[in-house]
Amino acid sequence: MQPFAIAPSILSADFARLGEEVDKVLAAGADIVHFDVMDNHYVPNLTIGPMVCTALRKYGITAPIDVHLMVKPVDRIIGDFLDAGASYITFHPEASEHIDRSLQLIKDGGARAGLVFNPGTPLDCLKYVMDKLDMVLLMSVNPGFGGQKFIPGTLDKLREARALIDASGHAIRLEIDGGVNVKNIGEIAAAGADTFVAGSAIFGQPDYKAVIDAMRAELAR
Ligand code: DX5
Ligand code: ZN
Repeated sequence: MQPFAIAPSILSADFARLGEEVDKVLAAGADIVHFDVMDNHYVPNLTIGPMVCTALRKYGITAPIDVHLMVKPVDRIIGDFLDAGASYITFHPEASEHIDRSLQLIKDGGARAGLVFNPGTPLDCLKYVMDKLDMVLLMSVNPGFGGQKFIPGTLDKLREARALIDASGHAIRLEIDGGVNVKNIGEIAAAGADTFVAGSAIFGQPDYKAVIDAMRAELAR
């Protein structure tokens, strides 16, 4: 198990003031910046690309940036995000023609690599690429939008992923994304997650520190 990390999804931030929003959420105690990339093809929404990641680095953000690619195809955008200063790059296995190759592209570029599993996608391919993974991300909503409700069946899947990661002996983060809030973060951690994406639960409140402190208090129980 990796140390707990809170990763606010900037999808729910005020894009007109993005640099300030990211500064503010990091000052409030966030560990990782979760960066949702949607292409209106793999998912039915369109968000931000590598230029915005570059802009955040230029603005002075030094915290890890966790780029969640909801795009198809995957490979041709990986290089742009490596150049843009991504720390983690994760992608959905069904969006890549060659999963092992995509992971290797990320690792060769010096970033950490991860796979993302939708609620209905089995974890089958995990075991074949475990040695290339730094992160496993389980979606607890169907990808495309912030503010959806946590799908409870994800808790069993987290336990399954936790067992596979522990058996591998590798230092792999187990991240959860979708519908995470102060009320459910405790049971999500108990099911095996160590990295928690939260968008609307944090950016939807005026006091980011109060939410993050409350989340940490739940994790410390
Ligand atoms: C959904 C995105 C999530 C989303 C989380 O496709 O991957 O990162 O922004 O938002 P909340 O926490 O509001 O469910
Ligand atoms: Zn995400």
